[in-house]
Amino acid sequence: MDIKDTIEGSFHIVGGDFSRAGEASTEIKSILQSLGFNKEIVRRAAIATFEAEMNIIIYTTAGILRYEITPERIKIIAQDMGPGIEDVELAMQEGYSTAPDWVREMGWGSGMGLPNMKKNSDDFKIDSVVGEGTTVEMIIYLDNTKS
Ligand SMILES: Nc1ncnc2c1ncn2[C@@H]1O[C@H](COP(=O)(O)OP(=O)(O)OP(=O)(O)O)[C@@H](O)[C@H]1O
Ligand SMILES: [Mg+2]
Repeated sequence: MDIKDTIEGSFHIVGGDFSRAGEASTEIKSILQSLGFNKEIVRRAAIATFEAEMNIIIYTTAGILRYEITPERIKIIAQDMGPGIEDVELAMQEGYSTAPDWVREMGWGSGMGLPNMKKNSDDFKIDSVVGEGTTVEMIIYLDNTKS
């Protein structure tokens, strides 16, 4: 597999639209598979992307999920339009969740999404401003892992 240029794209995600849950991350996963990345890279990117997509659907009004693939790395940026996170440090803790019961009944709300995004990326950044929105940037480096 050989990437020479930057491959990029984006998906609009509508908050509350559970009927499309997983659509963007599934699409990104199949792009990575078609580029021939090894299973472990695809798995990590897919988990991180899916958790980011779900958080936009569950907690926000709307957002954009972008991917940018270069010979060196996969970058995933999830940017939403709010409400923002009051205490990012708390939100990053395993098991912390504000998901309402009806969301938990669908199987979400274990408070593991953000920790798993961090765990599955090599670089993880989160920026949030209450009233404005949240941006999560995740990078997975490809060195020595290209198939
Ligand atoms: N984009 C976001 N905008 C606003 N709040 C968010 C956002 N992402 C996460 N949060 C807040 O951070 C908490 C923790 O998020 P995290 O993804 O770790 O767990 P969860 O979504 O509650 O459960 P799980 O991801 O395991 O289904 C959420 O419950 C929510 O309060
Ligand atoms: Mg989550």
